[in-house]
Amino acid sequence: MKIDFIIKPLTKRPAWKRLQAHYLQIHPLHLRQLFADDPLRGERFVIDAAGIYLDYSKNRVTEETMGLLINLAEECGLRERITAMFTGDTINVTEQRAALHTALRAPEGVRIMLGGVDVVAEVHLVLNKMAVFSERVRSGQWLGYTGKRIANIVNIGIGGSDLGPVMAYEALRHYSQRDLTFRFVSNVDGTDFQEATRDLDPEETLFIICSKTFTTLETLTNARAARNWCLQKLVDKQAVYRHFVAVSTNAEEVTKFGINIDNMFGFWDWDGGRYSMDSAIGLSTMIAVGSDNFRAMLEGFYEMDEHFRTAPFDRNIPVIMGLLKLWYNNFFDAQSVAVFPYNQYLKRFPAYLQQLTMESNGKHITLDGACADYQTAPIYWGEPGTNGQHSFFQLLHQGTRLIPCDFIGFCQTLNPLGDQHDLLMANLFAQTEALAFGKTEAEVKAEGIPEWLVPHRTFEGNRPTNTLLVEQLTPKTLGLLVALYEHSVFTQGAIWNIDSFDQWGVELGKVLAQKTAVELKSADEPQLDHDSSTNALIRHYRRFKK
Ligand code: F6P
Repeated sequence: MKIDFIIKPLTKRPAWKRLQAHYLQIHPLHLRQLFADDPLRGERFVIDAAGIYLDYSKNRVTEETMGLLINLAEECGLRERITAMFTGDTINVTEQRAALHTALRAPEGVRIMLGGVDVVAEVHLVLNKMAVFSERVRSGQWLGYTGKRIANIVNIGIGGSDLGPVMAYEALRHYSQRDLTFRFVSNVDGTDFQEATRDLDPEETLFIICSKTFTTLETLTNARAARNWCLQKLVDKQAVYRHFVAVSTNAEEVTKFGINIDNMFGFWDWDGGRYSMDSAIGLSTMIAVGSDNFRAMLEGFYEMDEHFRTAPFDRNIPVIMGLLKLWYNNFFDAQSVAVFPYNQYLKRFPAYLQQLTMESNGKHITLDGACADYQTAPIYWGEPGTNGQHSFFQLLHQGTRLIPCDFIGFCQTLNPLGDQHDLLMANLFAQTEALAFGKTEAEVKAEGIPEWLVPHRTFEGNRPTNTLLVEQLTPKTLGLLVALYEHSVFTQGAIWNIDSFDQWGVELGKVLAQKTAVELKSADEPQLDHDSSTNALIRHYRRFKK
């Protein structure tokens, strides 16, 4: 299917204008009123599908709002965009590529053709190769150069080649093989590598060098540090074959580095870094949890893909969540979105979402090259509950900003400990209740609070939240959750009419850093031709560095 990207500007669309007018009616309404008017609101503004229970009743919306938002999605061609993504159209326009991450989790037998090739068949060949390798490491058959069993796996990568693997490892730690140690090195700050390896023995350590391009400065620098660290003890260059594997699309650079090409796990240019944790980039995840669990995670992804692809928009969790975020971002002028998983295993989930959401939709040029006259991606941030409650939740409850939040909770804990899970979930429910309904002046006064303290003790409420409830954190439900956010990002990008799959905004800094690195390292005083601030900073650094 060919999509016509030259479309009517978003803010000129009838549905957009209707939403602008509607916002004026909705803005003064309080959630207290909306709930009082409709006693069944908490059961009606719910979608229970694909293993996820989404309660979006505590949002500042009515049925009319949802209808208008869905009209906007339809006017913007979201349905056609979804079809285009799933069938491999060149929706990554600026890089002239498909964005076919959904093919990574399509079950064997499903056919998705791209350039005459069935990409699903290719995906399964790599999955099978990963499974064989993972099993060899897990069972102790894959030996280090000196014949010792591998006990430590160090993933070296950055961005999508790190955030997905580390998030998934932490999330699925409960299912991991506990006699294997996993570390993740991303930062070019040598501290990251040193601290990750200081207690490891090279003879027992396997490095996974993860880089789609295999040219990323941070990853290649850390990979070389790892090779030196390894060879300091093992001396023979042949040892690299036993202690290094690669995940990449660039076989030439992998070979140049000295990794045996048989130990390279491939993926494809149609899979963007931030959409790749379910590709071979997830090799560390598969080693940690085993191939059956990895495949269960893919099943979760696939189930959410199918839900997104087929469910009507008003019953479609990623669509509804995407539209709600857009509602606050573009009509309430909310600047950020907070995500709170009430689950310690999901501690890296907010960091993972930051790349997914902001690298995807942090753009101001539309697909037809115009400058967007509306806001695009909000700032994503978050922390696991309940920790955030004792830090920044004050601002959520009584600050001057409107921050829509997602609360994610699980009905069953993986670590039963007395009544702790009930306490955790009680906090989740209490926070969303407090944010929505607050505490009125009259209620505070009725408690006998002195008059002068009443304004400080009053909670305005009317602060919107979504609550996502899942039965238990499993590989499958992790896949469901990640795919849900991927598709909600896509929904918003489609309406904003931007390319959610490129990342040109990271290039300029990379180029400038290369030039500056030469100036910082030069033995002679370099000729500096930056602005006066950058020149002075470089001189200051050079004066004080040892
Ligand atoms: O600089 C941004 C970026 O290109 C991300 O999009 C990507 O996930 C990351 O760098 C790492 O890239 P690579 O996997 O090619 O090393």
